[in-house]
Amino acid sequence: MPKVVFTSADGTQTGVDARTGDSVMLAATQNGVGGIVAECGGNRSCATCHVWVREDFVAAVGAPGDIEEDLLDLAVSERRPGSRLSCQIAMTDELDGLTVEIPPDQP
Ligand code: FES
Repeated sequence: MPKVVFTSADGTQTGVDARTGDSVMLAATQNGVGGIVAECGGNRSCATCHVWVREDFVAAVGAPGDIEEDLLDLAVSERRPGSRLSCQIAMTDELDGLTVEIPPDQP
């Protein structure tokens, strides 16, 4: 099982095991990681699952699609080069150790 490491706004790191194919959002919500609201349940319509992917994983995770791009512009927290909607990142074995930061302001 690939691991995802979430860094909260206060610097706390939480590592969880994700099932291959599950989204990073699901890995967070199913393991009690706070700060990822995921109001729309992963349907690309809320942007409350915004995360900042750590720089060294940005290339492996890939770029957001067009709809995701538009939603990220509506996210409460600032956009950064590693901004992604965590519901749109599917975990793979290659992403083992993926580290994402949770913005402080998810509505
Ligand atoms: Fe709503 Fe990701 S959970 S856009």
